Amino acid sequence: MFIESFKVESPNVKYTDDEIHSVYNYETTELVHENKNGSYQWVVKPKSVQYEFKTDTHVPKLGVMLVGWGGNNGSTLTAGVIANREGISWATKDKVQQANYFGSLTQASTIRVGSFNGEEIYAPFKSLLPMVNPDDVVFGGWDISDLNLADSMTRAKVLDIDLQKQLRPYMESMVPLPGIYDPDFIAANQGSRANHVIKGTKKEQMQQVIKDIREFKEANKVDKVVVLWTANTERYSNVIVGLNDTVESLLASLDKNESEISPSTLYALACIYEDVPFINGSPQNTFVPGVIDLAIKRNVLIGGDDFKSGQTKMKSVLVDFLVGAGIKPTSIVSYNHLGNNDGMNLSAPQTFRSKEISKSNVVDDMVSSNGILYEPGEHPDHVIVIKYVPYVGDSKRAMDEYTSEIFMGGKSTIVMHNTCEDSLLAAPIILDLVLLAELSTRIQLKAVGEGKFHSFHPVATILSYLTKAPLVPPGTPVVNALSKQRSMLENILRACVGLAPENNMILEYK
Ligand code: NAI
Repeated sequence: MFIESFKVESPNVKYTDDEIHSVYNYETTELVHENKNGSYQWVVKPKSVQYEFKTDTHVPKLGVMLVGWGGNNGSTLTAGVIANREGISWATKDKVQQANYFGSLTQASTIRVGSFNGEEIYAPFKSLLPMVNPDDVVFGGWDISDLNLADSMTRAKVLDIDLQKQLRPYMESMVPLPGIYDPDFIAANQGSRANHVIKGTKKEQMQQVIKDIREFKEANKVDKVVVLWTANTERYSNVIVGLNDTVESLLASLDKNESEISPSTLYALACIYEDVPFINGSPQNTFVPGVIDLAIKRNVLIGGDDFKSGQTKMKSVLVDFLVGAGIKPTSIVSYNHLGNNDGMNLSAPQTFRSKEISKSNVVDDMVSSNGILYEPGEHPDHVIVIKYVPYVGDSKRAMDEYTSEIFMGGKSTIVMHNTCEDSLLAAPIILDLVLLAELSTRIQLKAVGEGKFHSFHPVATILSYLTKAPLVPPGTPVVNALSKQRSMLENILRACVGLAPENNMILEYK
């Protein structure tokens, strides 16, 4: 059964006019490697830590500024939100289609809240805590191409034509701000698109972005802004001691107009100075150590990297299943071909390399979780191929072959063909990223013994469900397995309203 909303009644939860306050016992374990009579053994001790959470329930008016607003993702997301807000429907050859948010964790998925008369009761994910309603989001952003959003939508060739016709009047007046363009960082084939660029030194470009954010905030009367990079994949920046390895070196490099500072790093710096969360939806290392340090020092949320939309999402489910079932994947080969502008940009070796790195670490945590199947340091062969095939446009094809060793030396091969509908998968993920980033800035916590409430660590691991190569604070484990990432997010939000983590035990019926 499905219910729209619920309220928690518990001695551990207080709802006031301004916040939800919850007391939560975090049940975990402590491991000790002990020497008992000359031999070492692992001892595991259950541990309970009391936390308090408080969530500000005032939902702000949110502005979302996209870097690469006029791209396939940016125009598709903007169009999709308008279509939902305006209740637009359109004729396809099959039926009359209503706008929806399928593919969005916050808008189209549910959580189990309990059992009632022997029935499982589910509620919308977004009913857990007060979140921004997408209808109320104001979109804006930058692009190095000056096309308005209606023309961008047409160029993208993603949405049905009847829908495009209805959306055009809403989108014609939306024009991106000029973007920071550096041909050294994206493929040369993007040059003809770059007709709308911010001039000046790197520092001046960053300052222009700061000015743009302030003016956008003022003009649209929004309380908060989140910025998200959905522009083209850049090549990796070289991380060099004295150049970008610390805040000081990075800022000194900015003063010297060093060529190795990427456009995405400049947008990120601008956001950190403006106390605006910045999310990177592409694979490149925008967050060089100096940027991470600055975000930590100024306590501004950063999150990324690279949207986890199609092939990698499947991989982080499938390999989790295989390794969890005691089956040993030994070879994973992933081919993609796509024909959109992202594909064209990725056809250059340096930008492809960023994507290859981002896609290749995704099974590491699952492999290292099973020392019965894998020797220390052993890893399946994992190869990634991406080809640009213009004809398929935004409809990316992903072909994967997973070969595994099974019982008694047997082999099992799974072959998958996935049509990824690239931007239609990415757009709802972008929405989730910005809504969850905003929400997480309203949550404060403290463990017993900590004097003051504090926000989550500025490197937002809470967003990892949505990213291919989750950015984590130094010294923190990276979790790629999709079900674990979802549980982490859901259980943290449940803790904020004093609900236990979903443990799937269903003891009531045992
Ligand atoms: P796109 O090429 O259609 O859009 C990118 C836009 O960014 C273009 O309009 C371009 O003019 C603009 N741009 C490039 N550099 C810029 C800069 N420095 N400042 C401002 N604007 C700039 O690409 P699409 O399909 O929208 O993808 C965007 C990004 O998202 C790509 O990096 C892609 O790898 C990444 N991504 C996409 C996924 C998907 O499923 N669609 C999944 C994972 C990542």
